[in-house]
Amino acid sequence: MTDSDDLQTLVEAVQSTAKYAAIDPGLVRSLVEQELAKGRSTKETVKAVRNKLHQIGSAYQEKPIDYAQLLRRLAALPTELRSPELRAFCLEAMRNHTSTRERLGFLESFYSEPLAGIGPIHSLLDLACGLNPLALSWMPLAADAQIEVCDIYADMTAFLNAFFTHTAVNGSANSCDLLQQIPERPVQLALLLKTIPCLEQVDKTIGRRLLQTIQAEYMLVSFPVHSLGGRGKGMRQNYDQHFQGLTAELPWKVTRFDFPGELVFRLSRP
Ligand SMILES: C[S@@+](CC[C@H](N)C(=O)[O-])C[C@H]1O[C@@H](n2cnc3c(N)ncnc32)[C@H](O)[C@@H]1O
Repeated sequence: MTDSDDLQTLVEAVQSTAKYAAIDPGLVRSLVEQELAKGRSTKETVKAVRNKLHQIGSAYQEKPIDYAQLLRRLAALPTELRSPELRAFCLEAMRNHTSTRERLGFLESFYSEPLAGIGPIHSLLDLACGLNPLALSWMPLAADAQIEVCDIYADMTAFLNAFFTHTAVNGSANSCDLLQQIPERPVQLALLLKTIPCLEQVDKTIGRRLLQTIQAEYMLVSFPVHSLGGRGKGMRQNYDQHFQGLTAELPWKVTRFDFPGELVFRLSRP
């Protein structure tokens, strides 16, 4: 067997349980390579990679998301993005991912305040999106806005594509690994919500790389102010300082917004 066959066998071993099966194989492969480089055995490597995937992905989904059931319910709903029935479905579905669930109590102001004066938005990139694209109808979007979203889960992006088709949104969801590839297509607004601390668990350079590479007119970058376990002492201040370091000497004009569970920065070109 070649090294590449060995690597493929390990990737398949990591993804052999349902919990990890839908994750972008490129991400799994690079995590396997990282663990092997530390001199770990194959068994230790599979365990360490699964732990990492749990931390950066599965931990935000307290139980497996039942996409088949969500799709059945979606099919019976109106197709108008802003219809009350569809919005109620979106609010409920967003409970399936911790990151969106945590902002449901202030969703309205979460988008209206930082985005005041910059709509209608014609192109949107939502990176490491989770289920946040279900909040599209709370954003000041143009009717024909071009939406591009990505996350590591193929089942999640398949569901989001079905949602775009149902609502006739000009959108596309793709599975991705931002650690390996950062989109460079020019866009009006990019969302990087609670993403930097999550990705920094694998690569400490990712925050700065994202902020340097994304070609957006405006960006919303946010940080959680309590951990998944609910603790949060000093997180707001620590992330504020961390963000100042990440943006030092970068040509962004920054405005800060404080929400109960989330610290948000709006970045715009000066
Ligand atoms: C803290 S959650 C934020 C989700 C969403 N942005 C929000 O705020 O509602 C982090 C998201 O990053 C995704 N993720 C983790 N590693 C990633 C990677 N290397 N590339 C792309 N997405 C990743 C996870 O699956 C998860 O949905």
